[in-house]
Amino acid sequence: MACFFRRRIAEQLGRTMQQREDVFIPALSAVPVFKKQQTADFRLSINVLRNNGVLPVSGDIQAQTEHLAHQLKQDSVVEEIAVGSAVINFRINCKLLAQKILEPFGTGDNSKFGLNSELFKFLKRGITVVEYSSPNIAKKFHAGHLRSTIIGNFIANLKQSLGNKVIRMNYLGDWGMQFGLLGVGFNQFGSQERLKQNPLQHLFEVYVKVNQEAEHNEDMRLAARDFFRQLEQHESQAVSLWQQFRDITVSEYQHVYKRLGVHFDVYSGESFHQERVQEVVQQLLQQGLLKTTEKGTGVVDLSAAGDMSTFSTVLRSDGTSLYITRDIAAAIDRSEKYSFDEMIYVTDKSQTNHFHQLFQILQALGHSWADRCHHVPFGLVQGMKTRSGEVVFLEDVLDEARARMLHNMKQSKTTKEMDDAEDTAQKVGISALIVQDFKGPLQSDYKFDWDKMLQAQGDTGVFLQYTHARLCSLIRANDNIDAATFNPSLLTEQSSVTILQHLLRYDEVLYQSAQDLQPKHLLNFLLKLCHLNASAHRDLPVKGSPQEVAQARLRLFSGSCLVLANGMRILGITPVDKM
Ligand code: ARG
Repeated sequence: MACFFRRRIAEQLGRTMQQREDVFIPALSAVPVFKKQQTADFRLSINVLRNNGVLPVSGDIQAQTEHLAHQLKQDSVVEEIAVGSAVINFRINCKLLAQKILEPFGTGDNSKFGLNSELFKFLKRGITVVEYSSPNIAKKFHAGHLRSTIIGNFIANLKQSLGNKVIRMNYLGDWGMQFGLLGVGFNQFGSQERLKQNPLQHLFEVYVKVNQEAEHNEDMRLAARDFFRQLEQHESQAVSLWQQFRDITVSEYQHVYKRLGVHFDVYSGESFHQERVQEVVQQLLQQGLLKTTEKGTGVVDLSAAGDMSTFSTVLRSDGTSLYITRDIAAAIDRSEKYSFDEMIYVTDKSQTNHFHQLFQILQALGHSWADRCHHVPFGLVQGMKTRSGEVVFLEDVLDEARARMLHNMKQSKTTKEMDDAEDTAQKVGISALIVQDFKGPLQSDYKFDWDKMLQAQGDTGVFLQYTHARLCSLIRANDNIDAATFNPSLLTEQSSVTILQHLLRYDEVLYQSAQDLQPKHLLNFLLKLCHLNASAHRDLPVKGSPQEVAQARLRLFSGSCLVLANGMRILGITPVDKM
């Protein structure tokens, strides 16, 4: 394992420089591999040592590098020490490399590979609330909600893998004036029967229709306002209709999320905090933070100079609450209920200012935990369409991904016979959606492209799944070979060494993703692993090789397969064994 070697090198550095070995760990990293090109295994960055105060910042850095390198000695683990530009490169004995890395893949539970690394030793663990997906009842489920769903799921998976207790929360848009319109609209154009048959579709239709109507119909607008007032005052008829809409929506969504491999521990929503909203307003008032404007709205001054150059409106002139008011109440409620160590909100970047203001108001109210709240913003998706046009429901995207993938699988010569082709097509189609989304920095916008994301070659979810299935099939085809023991000195070809060196980086890559919550580090690592395995498949045949060689190679492929599967699961992708 990577930490064994990192520790060994750090020990020697510690002895040589008479420092604690721990200070060298952050400066040591596994070297990224290049196809067909030999590289060192680890690299020590002199810059990091300078920044950490281990080495003086003054003086010629290259001279410092050479001076240190010359004091170090080769041994049975580190076979080569070489000076680079402000770095020292280390080469590990290659047999030992194979032995240590592939050791954990012999038997037992391997799901912890890379996760029990010492890199995570000082990571704070605790209770993490991740709020994601959060669609609005009766409104469109747009690409932003899909992104929030898969990104939030990834963050929750990652945090959980690293040993946090994670609370997965969906915060539905289930309150506000639109429910006045929806209530009135349903009484006029709705039907209980259609609501039962096709709930999301029907609610959306009613919502669109009532909005059109309300545009030129003053009575309709008044009725809507009145319906919402009834709701806010808990009048039973209004509430029971609203409750029905909400229940039906949640159960429909649960069904679709299941297809996507996503679940939630809590379905919260804007409606939950009505009493709390009043309390919040009182507190703002008592602490002198609430100002009333000429128009009669309630605002909080957020400017540094106290001149209202930036402010947030928290009350309408009729005294009703707004999106941010409900968010303030919701955050306070969560802090009391869950005593979280951190809370992460996942939405598109257009809400960056909203969350900034939310955290500022929470601070102003004296909630110091506000600095443990984070917003993870992401960019916009252009052109997410299905064959029938603009996407309104999540289900349509999943149906289309499945149908397109099924079609491609039928066309492909390599597709295997399988019992449930539809299920495989669905899993692979969803991987394609996820990989397309995770490849770049989350903040970037991107163009949704069915053809590109579903290509079998290139850096796609299909390629990830295909590689995993191929590795599984290799392992199945050789199940007569006993892989419990293996001889590590038989893995010295360049193709093997490159894979081993690449596996050395797994914990660092997880660490990077844990630091900035960007899935791209992990994803690009896995894609590279797939490319390396594709070459190794050619260069390192298992069938027909002498027993011992076959055994060692199988161990290497099994290790790759496991790391690939574990990494895919963290990304939110369910690996398929056959395709
Ligand atoms: N329902 C909102 C929307 O669709 C997203 C909610 C985000 N979370 C929050 N706590 N404000 O835009």
